[in-house]
This record gives sequence, C-alpha cells and structure tokens, in this order.
Amino acid sequence: MKNEYIPYPAIIESVREEGPETETFRIVFEDEGMMEGFGYQPGQFVQVSLLGVGEAPISIASSPHHRGFIELTIRGMGKLTRAINRLESGDKIYIRGPYGNIFPFEGVKGRDMYFIAGGIGLAPLKSMIDLVLARREEFGRVVLLYGARTPSGLCFKEEIKVWRELEGMEVRLIADIPEGGWTGRTGVVTELWEEAEPWRGGVAYICGPPTMMKCVVEKLIRTGFNKEDIYLTLERQMKCGIGKCGHCSIGGKFVCIDGPVFSAAGANIEKWGR
Ligand SMILES: Cc1cc2nc3c(=O)[nH]c(=O)nc-3n(C[C@H](O)[C@H](O)[C@H](O)COP(=O)(O)OP(=O)(O)OC[C@H]3O[C@@H](n4cnc5c(N)ncnc54)[C@H](O)[C@@H]3O)c2cc1C
Ligand code: FES
Repeated sequence: MKNEYIPYPAIIESVREEGPETETFRIVFEDEGMMEGFGYQPGQFVQVSLLGVGEAPISIASSPHHRGFIELTIRGMGKLTRAINRLESGDKIYIRGPYGNIFPFEGVKGRDMYFIAGGIGLAPLKSMIDLVLARREEFGRVVLLYGARTPSGLCFKEEIKVWRELEGMEVRLIADIPEGGWTGRTGVVTELWEEAEPWRGGVAYICGPPTMMKCVVEKLIRTGFNKEDIYLTLERQMKCGIGKCGHCSIGGKFVCIDGPVFSAAGANIEKWGR
C-alpha cells in the first residue's frame, strides 16, 4: 500500500515567469511509471518539498487531460516558496499527493461556467478552465473575471491572450493599482460584474484572498445565485495534508480532506478570517 507520507523525487522540466516572484514549473516524476500512474482532478493539490527547507501545499494548475507532467504556479511568500522559485530546469524537488477533493465537473455539464479569481488564486481554477475548454461543447458560456493588486501580478498572461480569442469565452481583467502601460480597468474584481453579460444561472468557481472571496460570494448571492452553485477553494496552512494533524481545521472541517473545494452552502463564511 502506498505510504501517503512519502514524497517522490521529481525534476523541473521548465520554468516560466508569470510575474513578480511568481513562476510556473512544469514537473515530471523521476520514475516514469509513477508519472504515468499519477491521476488527479481540478481542485486537488500536492505537497511540495525541498530537502532541508520545508514542505507546502500547492494546487495543480495543469489539466489532467495533459498527460506526462504536472504544472505548479508558485508565488514566493516565505522560506520554502522563495527557495523553490530560485530553482531552474533540471533541479530536483519532492512531491506527495494528490490530495483534497475536486471541483464538480460531470454534474455541471451544459451550464454556464463563471470563474472568479484574485492574484495567484487563478492557479487552481486554471486546471478546471483548461479541462472545460478541452470539452468546450459540453458546457455553456465560459466567463473569467480576474483581478490582481497590480497588472504584473496577473498570472497566465499567455493563456489569457488565447482565451480572449475563443468564441463563447469572456475574459475581464482588473487591477487595484495601475502600473505603466495598463489601459485596462482599475478597481476590485467585484466591479467587473456590472460589465459582464447578465448571469444566466450558471455555476461559479472562486479562488483568491479570503476578503475577496467573501465579497464575491455575497455579491453572487445578491445577484440570485444559489449557494449550492458557488464553489470556493480555501487555502489554509497545512502540515500532514491527509487529515491526521488538525492543523488546517476551519469551522469543524479539515481543509486538506473535506476541501480545499467547498460549496458556499457548506462553507462557514464567518470563520474565514485567518
Ligand atoms: C490547498 C492549498 C493550495 C495552495 N496552492 C498554492 C498555489 O498554487 N500557489 C502558491 O503560490 N501558493 C499556494 N498555496 C499557499 C502556499 O502553500 C503557501 O504560500 C506556502 O505554504 C508558504 O510557505 P513558505 O514556507 O514559503 O512560507 P512561510 O514562511 O510558511 O510563510 C510566509 C508567510 O505566508 C503566510 N502563509 C503561509 N501559508 C499561507 C497560506 N496558505 N495562505 C496565506 N498565507 C500563508 C505565513 O503566515 C507567513 O506570513 C496553497 C495553499 C493551500 C492550503
Ligand atoms: S493538514 Fe493535517 S489535518 Fe489537514
């Protein structure tokens, strides 16, 4: 039986800069069989470690329909994530997982899909967006509302360029603080609502800082969304990642096994403050 605590060695195949202190790493397990057998779904995360430095949960940003690698987008927040962001192609890291639950997919076919993200929060949603776009005919309209503190803090600029050209996909961006050359909207992500086409009872997927998610959920509910149709991915500090240590407990639930994906009907919004 697989020991869930054992991290497996993996090699960084390529590194792409996303913005300040933010990189996307394409990673392959050293063991080819391990890579082939590595199955995951959008919403899940892995525990990433560097020997002698530490371990952290990171969402899988790639989509499972791309086989043979996984992609992780990491923002340097502290000791470990900054150390990872200094790594280059060919360097080794360790990975265990995947862990956590998943975004609903099969049960939402045929519906309009709304993705609402703040900053690095687009990473877990990107996995889902890619999968939905790969099976485009099975879904309704796809809308992305995405904000960051500054324009350079917006991740996945290459993908966004492609998404903007796709028929049936609407992408709206906003930055709190404009930087040189930014001609887009200035403000917070909830302001993008008024511009977007009217909601038609779709499903919403949200990830970002807790305050942003709280505002978005409240706005969606006021707009007439059912709480059951709003999904959030929560990020808490973790240790074991497998429901043993209690470190990620929030409102009586463990984010690592009961989440990180919660519906707004089940998430206890009042307890989101860190
Ligand atoms: C399920 C899940 C998925 C995640 N996915 C991603 C991802 O795709 N990309 C990414 O860059 N990060 C992601 N994170 C956050 C990432 O795990 C933390 O940034 C990381 O643990 C920080 O470790 P560190 O040793 O570098 O920093 P530390 O030295 O541990 O902390 C540096 C600072 O960041 C704060 N911090 C630590 N963890 C978090 C957290 N979870 N949320 C907010 N503040 C925190 C600390 O309080 C401290 O102020 C995810 C977290 C979870 C729980
Ligand atoms: S991280 Fe240990 S119980 Fe969730």
